[in-house]
Amino acid sequence: MRRILVTSALPYANGSIHLGHLVEYLQTDIWVRFQKMLGHEVHYICADDTHGTPIMLRAEKEGITPDELISRVSIEHKNDFNKFFINFDYYGSTNDQATKEIASDIYIRLKNNAKLISQKTIEQFYDPEKMLFLSDRYVRGTCPKCQSEDQYGDSCEVCGATYRPTELINPISALSGVTPIRKESDHYFFQLSDPRCLNFLEKWVLQPNRLQPEAKNKIKEWFVAGFSDWDISRDSPYFGFEIPDSPGKYFYVWLDAPIGYFGSFKNLCEKKSLDFESYVSPQKSEKEKTELIHFIGKDILYFHALFFPAILHFAGYRTPTQIYAHGFLTINGQKMSKSRGTFITANDYIRSELNPEWLRYYYFSKLNSSLQDIDLNFDELLLKVNGDLIGKFINIASRTSKFINSQFNNTLCSIVNGKLLVEIRNKEAVISQHYDNREFSKALREIMRLADNVNQFIDTEKPWKLKETNSKRLQIVCSTALEAFRLLTLYLKPVLPVTCCKIEQFLNIKSLTWDDINNRLEDGHKIENYTHLMHRADKKCIDKLESTPSSPKPKKDLSINNKKMETKNSTDIYQQNISIADFNRVKLKIARITKAEEVGGADKLLRLHLDLGENITRKVLAGIKLGYKTTDLEGKLTVMVTNLEPRKMKFGISEGMVLAASDDSGGIFLLSPDSGAEPGMEVK
Ligand code: 2FM
Ligand code: ZN
Repeated sequence: MRRILVTSALPYANGSIHLGHLVEYLQTDIWVRFQKMLGHEVHYICADDTHGTPIMLRAEKEGITPDELISRVSIEHKNDFNKFFINFDYYGSTNDQATKEIASDIYIRLKNNAKLISQKTIEQFYDPEKMLFLSDRYVRGTCPKCQSEDQYGDSCEVCGATYRPTELINPISALSGVTPIRKESDHYFFQLSDPRCLNFLEKWVLQPNRLQPEAKNKIKEWFVAGFSDWDISRDSPYFGFEIPDSPGKYFYVWLDAPIGYFGSFKNLCEKKSLDFESYVSPQKSEKEKTELIHFIGKDILYFHALFFPAILHFAGYRTPTQIYAHGFLTINGQKMSKSRGTFITANDYIRSELNPEWLRYYYFSKLNSSLQDIDLNFDELLLKVNGDLIGKFINIASRTSKFINSQFNNTLCSIVNGKLLVEIRNKEAVISQHYDNREFSKALREIMRLADNVNQFIDTEKPWKLKETNSKRLQIVCSTALEAFRLLTLYLKPVLPVTCCKIEQFLNIKSLTWDDINNRLEDGHKIENYTHLMHRADKKCIDKLESTPSSPKPKKDLSINNKKMETKNSTDIYQQNISIADFNRVKLKIARITKAEEVGGADKLLRLHLDLGENITRKVLAGIKLGYKTTDLEGKLTVMVTNLEPRKMKFGISEGMVLAASDDSGGIFLLSPDSGAEPGMEVK
């Protein structure tokens, strides 16, 4: 039995899970489910990646603490993963105690034992207004090479030049718009350029099967280019872990993020009384070996194949056994992009009533072990789901079970182990090899070829005719087809956990494991009545998804910014109950409308300037123009949702919402508090 600790990259806690992320989580989840079906001990770990400046700034913008932000996002992420049946054994947070302890331990060992931490004074841009050191992404200015304006601090999008932010002409802080000043501070570096690191990494990278060939080649290029020491510290204010004995200095997010794999696993070990040390200590012998496998996107190879193994090794921990990198996702041939409307979140997909198992199946049909990008094309998804998944696989059951149900009192007869079933069983080795090697598209090709054979068998035998002519043969044919269906279900179970569970109930069998390839449905076995297993994919759902990515659903009756919420009748209201915790996540505050202005070209919108007290102001686009004159609104108090993500609308960005009621005749009624309320008061 293999003992494997498997991870997927940790998603940042400042954004939603999108279809690009899901390539990796679904790839890993399918692989893990397959290994578990084989009976191996596998622990699938993930966590939110919670530290860093963007998270701190996002929380500040929303008027909440970083801790509040990361707990809210953690709930959202877990919910999204559940919807797609991604079955982590533990989902944690890099902000937890276990990760903090291991990060400190690794740092202290690197510093005191390996002597691989150095301290240097560096000069960086500093935003005097925000009182923050600015990383490259927060500085913009004119490219020193081609003079193009408004370029990032590290590279020019026009001429492709790379440079230091301090080389930019007319630099400005992207956070406040002020000119940054140069300021010195002390930083800690992990000495990746030390010959000990290079020697170790060269051997580590070249171990057979450690990395995919393309990844290995990429890393060889990095070796040729040479390594710089790695800055692992950041100055206060920073949301992260303070470095031991260095007040005001924090670990850079990328130092503690991968350590979060171990921290989260430690929490699982405590919960399940597992032996943590056996998974994270250097591996003693082949016999006692545990594996550590990281699934990642190709963009973070540098961190996982260089920094992480180096810091682990020199701190006395084990290093990863394998790193499985995958390519990026394009949608209909285009890079995912918010402005092109191809940025689709997991929640958008679910809201459009698309079945999550369709995406699991579709990604399975496209994935392989290479680093190539994969394209999600929705027309192709429809074809694969309706044509193959339903047309070839599910249909085997719907075409044959009705005869067993109606003619034979649900009873199967003894099945001759004919050519068809032998062929399906014979493919087990090839299919499991493909699964293990992450050659999912090849595995599916084999499975679908077998499904074709089963359908051909049914076509040739014509059970609908046998019903009239040869009852015994009818029972044999349908029993054989259902046994074939059981075997194909086994092959597809890692991909379609929910449908396959329904099939197990329909076939009246125990939860399938890989070994069940050697079992069979016995003579006299009784199945259940066939019930519908999967709906066909509907073009309308795809249209819905493509037309409104990341936008709210149409609403009725109750309105926020004149967008109506669905509450057709009182039963619906009860069906859409939310918990008090959900409700508490919506932050409402009293706001004073200091200015209301028309928005050029918009029939229904007004731009409201809102004062939320303590010098906080927001601009909101509200669909209330038909009910109010701008002059009526100025000075009025209202209620604002303050923790909504800013939304880019056709007429500009809206930084929240105000609450209003509306009726079917078009009346609009802005919600206002009784007198005495003040801007900034929380509405609870
Ligand atoms: O690139 C990212 O989205 C990172 N949050 C991945 C971190 S993976 C691991 F190292 F924590
Ligand atoms: Zn340039």
